[in-house]
Amino acid sequence: MYIYDIIEKKRYGNELTKEEIEFTIAGFVKGDITEAQMSALLMAITINGMTDKEALCLTKTMQNSGKSYKFPFKSVDKHSTGGVGDSTTLIVVPTLAAMGLRVSKMSGKALGFTGGTIDKMKCFDGYNPEMSEEKFLDIIRKCGCVIMSQSSDIAVADKLIYALRDKTATVDSIPLIASSIMSKKLASGADTILLDVKYGTGAFMKTIDDAKKLAKLMVKIGKADGRNVNAVITNMNVPLSDGVGCNQEVYSAIKVLHGENSRLAELSKYLCAKLYSEAKGKPFNECKKMVSDAIASGKAAEKLREMVMLGGGNADIIDHPEKLLISDYVVKVTSKKNTYVNNINAYKVAKFVNHLKDSAVEKQKYRAGIMLNVHVGDEIHENDTLATIYSSRKVTNEMIEELLACFEFSDKYSSNYKLIEESVK
Ligand code: URA
Repeated sequence: MYIYDIIEKKRYGNELTKEEIEFTIAGFVKGDITEAQMSALLMAITINGMTDKEALCLTKTMQNSGKSYKFPFKSVDKHSTGGVGDSTTLIVVPTLAAMGLRVSKMSGKALGFTGGTIDKMKCFDGYNPEMSEEKFLDIIRKCGCVIMSQSSDIAVADKLIYALRDKTATVDSIPLIASSIMSKKLASGADTILLDVKYGTGAFMKTIDDAKKLAKLMVKIGKADGRNVNAVITNMNVPLSDGVGCNQEVYSAIKVLHGENSRLAELSKYLCAKLYSEAKGKPFNECKKMVSDAIASGKAAEKLREMVMLGGGNADIIDHPEKLLISDYVVKVTSKKNTYVNNINAYKVAKFVNHLKDSAVEKQKYRAGIMLNVHVGDEIHENDTLATIYSSRKVTNEMIEELLACFEFSDKYSSNYKLIEESVK
């Protein structure tokens, strides 16, 4: 078998066999297949696509290139395809544990413009998400949930291929994204998995149709492996939470655990109810009530505290989230006119926050971010605060203009924004 022939076959849009896919992945991991050859194949896949059979085979082959976890208990997992102001994990994981499920969450770092859960967990001073399997099992046995970094021995081939995709403009291919995510999810060991597949300016999938295609393929891959996998399609045109930036997103999540209502609360509660309903076979509406009780009783916040402390972290900010908003420079950005907020562009907000982080003093990158003070649909008046910037460097007029450009105003509200679109079985 020759890699040249495999590249040529895909270049003409033909289906690769199981043997050809296995040969390619094994050869690339070993170093027999060069980055140039793999890049050519990835580009051919990005342009010509893959059949579902090929995507299933690629997923399994990448999963088998590393370790697969198997737990001595049933566990659940929630995965987001990546968004802006998405701190649902910090809410969903402890809430489900407070409801009696075991939640084994292996998370990644920030990818492209999207935020990463592992970076946010570091806001709890001392929390170490790089943990051994023994520690992972110990924490989950003691408190029912744990958030750890994706261990380096999981889906080894995906790590190498993802790095190459990042350099060769081959990230946004549906079969490549589906097999990349699912190879890691299947290796992470959960029995019931809920995928939050996002579409919009602040997501990898720009259109709802592509998000549906991605969701359907991932659900198919998961089911073929015998897992209970479901997906929900959600809107990522507007930042999910008011806070964008590590500290600010943790702040928004803690506020939800203390009972605040927001878009973030709406989606997090929906995901909890859906996952619980799937794992336990209970009616969704009954589960929704259980979720609200777990949060209102303070049990969910208590679970987060337990998990953080077992992971070596300081949980004080759960009682004092306002400490997360301390920064050298705190600057309010105000409206120049009486108007309506028609849109807040999630992608532009993410870029703005990334610029803030890039220019921040090294130890203060976690503090760089914004809090939105208005929402889509709000009527606002001249000088009302639209957003607050938290920065370790002086905020310039140019920065203020960049943030203002994230807002779209109109004489009247005319958007048909809907957060949760549909679920895919
Ligand atoms: N997240 C992943 O893990 N892989 C992708 O390809 C895209 C998002």
